[in-house]
Amino acid sequence: MNDYRYKVTAAGRINIIGEHIDYCGGRVMPAAISLKNTVYVRPNGTNTINLSWTTLPDKVTLDIDKLESYKGLKCGNYQAGSAYMWQRAGHKITGCDMLHDCTVPFGSGLSSSAAIEVSTIAALATIAGEPLNKVEIALKAQQAEREYAGVNCGIMDQFASACGKKDSVMLLDCNTLNCEYLPLRLGDYSLVITNCNKPHNLIQSKYNERRSETEDALKILQRSVDISCLADLSLMQSKSYTEVLPPVLKKRAEHVVGECNRVRKATIALKAGNIEALGKLLNESHKSLKELYEVTGREPDALVKAAQSHPYCLGSRLMGGGFGGCTISLVKSDCIDEFKEFVYNEYFSETGYKAEFYDADISDGITVTSTF
Ligand code: GLA
Repeated sequence: MNDYRYKVTAAGRINIIGEHIDYCGGRVMPAAISLKNTVYVRPNGTNTINLSWTTLPDKVTLDIDKLESYKGLKCGNYQAGSAYMWQRAGHKITGCDMLHDCTVPFGSGLSSSAAIEVSTIAALATIAGEPLNKVEIALKAQQAEREYAGVNCGIMDQFASACGKKDSVMLLDCNTLNCEYLPLRLGDYSLVITNCNKPHNLIQSKYNERRSETEDALKILQRSVDISCLADLSLMQSKSYTEVLPPVLKKRAEHVVGECNRVRKATIALKAGNIEALGKLLNESHKSLKELYEVTGREPDALVKAAQSHPYCLGSRLMGGGFGGCTISLVKSDCIDEFKEFVYNEYFSETGYKAEFYDADISDGITVTSTF
């Protein structure tokens, strides 16, 4: 790795609260974590991007003049899509060798894809000698996910991956992209990330389906109330206006309005150091994801139930797109080992799956180090 010129990283992310509302214009509370994708990059003087991986034997060569043609690649799809979107936005792509090293577990709901997309673009910008505009990088990375990888995602993951700050959670307004950083002060408590390890292959289609349901709900509501996105609907308004929606759309809209409200309350709780209140909000969020948004499933529900039943856990919920992946739990710091053992055993006896725990700190988003 010493013969590469730069080491560029972008982070995976957790999300404290605010799930499935980024694409409805809501505010969300993610944070970048120390599980990340690293790109070692050097110019190669050719018209190609040569990709290799520390953990895979594959080697892939992308022709810079044909970047739009690699959709669906088994290996390198995110890199190709990101390079293409960056090029389409008018940026120069320099021929280079990229070695990728990803420590974000794939399909875990911790945004490995965003980490790959964001670090790929940051590496291309670095090698071309461009100043890094992290917000623009996040937006182009999101476009790669949507138009190249086919997941009609919101902006939360790519924004957190690019713009996260060490030891801070972000309060990101997904409508305006205004972002406030709050120190993550949890007193005697810590966050525990747990993977339910259930493979989830329906995520892409189900995710896109949920998103279009919220768009349908918005269109119907706009006939009677002046809102530009679902997050504009207040809790009060939603009580009367959502009555006109078909039952499924009503549930989806109720989740969005409720979750936006929980983010508001969580912000107050975090600022006041009221960790117990924050924990309750995590539990409410999971209930809503399960009953109203219907993006959980047997295994994530069992994992959350096990965590919530532990006496030193203040709250637990599923994170990310859903249908599998990781949960986040708020646990008394000096009881974490006991908590892990308890949850592992309960979850295993309920489902037969082995839960996995990740140690991660809250970290910076993009970082660039010159290796010379
Ligand atoms: C995925 C998407 C995000 C967001 C979450 C759910 O991680 O990429 O944009 O919608 O799901 O909150």
